[in-house]
Amino acid sequence: MAVKPNVPSPFCFQGAWFFPPVSPRGLEQVESFEVRDDDVFVSAFPKSGTTWTQQIVSLVTSGSNFSEVSKIDMNKRVPWLESADLLGGPDAPPIISVLKDSPSPRLMKTHLSYGMLPKQAREGKGKIVYCARNPKDVVVSVHNMAQMNDLLDPLSWEEGLEKFLSAPPANSWWNVIPEYWRHKDDDYLLFIKYEDMKKDLRGHVVKIAEFLGRTLTAEQVDEVTANCTFTAMKENPATNVSRNPIMQEKVFKRGRERGIEFVRKGKVGDWRNWFSPQQLEKFEAFHREKMAGTDLTFEDEE
Ligand code: A3P
Repeated sequence: MAVKPNVPSPFCFQGAWFFPPVSPRGLEQVESFEVRDDDVFVSAFPKSGTTWTQQIVSLVTSGSNFSEVSKIDMNKRVPWLESADLLGGPDAPPIISVLKDSPSPRLMKTHLSYGMLPKQAREGKGKIVYCARNPKDVVVSVHNMAQMNDLLDPLSWEEGLEKFLSAPPANSWWNVIPEYWRHKDDDYLLFIKYEDMKKDLRGHVVKIAEFLGRTLTAEQVDEVTANCTFTAMKENPATNVSRNPIMQEKVFKRGRERGIEFVRKGKVGDWRNWFSPQQLEKFEAFHREKMAGTDLTFEDEE
């Protein structure tokens, strides 16, 4: 029998399950976190294009030196609100306590559901860029992440798919994404889709810049776009974190052994390589039932 790797245990906070490096001490401080008018939250369900959106937001707000800014670790440019420093050990302070004293404008990443965001962000202070992706490609990307990240249980494809479908409401794609979608017309939230970004990256750079009140020349838009393509982000260890030698050693040893990278395939429709016909039928019936009350749809073919 294969030996199960020793991975950190998940923990429950307000009905949702989290894994390190999400920090229980950090989560406790989120609700009352003091949001500033020029704060930007990049929010997404895990494996939905978070890093891609972080890269665009970070570059459009940097104003210039796009290639240089691109070389700075993503976790430094757009830190993870509810986490603790991955490399800081068990006593590392929660990122949120560091962010309290960080200079403006602050950019932050989060995987929290809308209802768990800081109260002031839910009330419209600051801005939120939300990126959503079709759930079939999300579950495939989650599965591959679990195979390559030493902090996660490398469940089989079948086990991971079942877990995704039976997640408790607070972790379920089918609750979290429609909840954000209900805020798509709020002026402080921009809802974008991974599949639309694949079709028109440059257009999304412009859209995100406009939403954040940044004016870029056509040449600047071109430069930002060039640093946000799949190839550019795959080759860049600041965005493809499994190519960062320290991260590879600390977190992505399994990925190195199995040849899976953090910026992996970047396709719409990779799910076709994973689902059996029976799994697809079950998944799509579940999806139809759960999404019956919403007008949110996704393309899932390139
Ligand atoms: P795949 O595993 O399907 O390749 P997150 O940042 O939320 O963890 O999302 C990771 C997913 O976004 C991965 O999907 C990754 O390859 C993809 N991704 C990252 N940068 C991308 C880019 N510039 N273009 C397209 N997809 C990208």
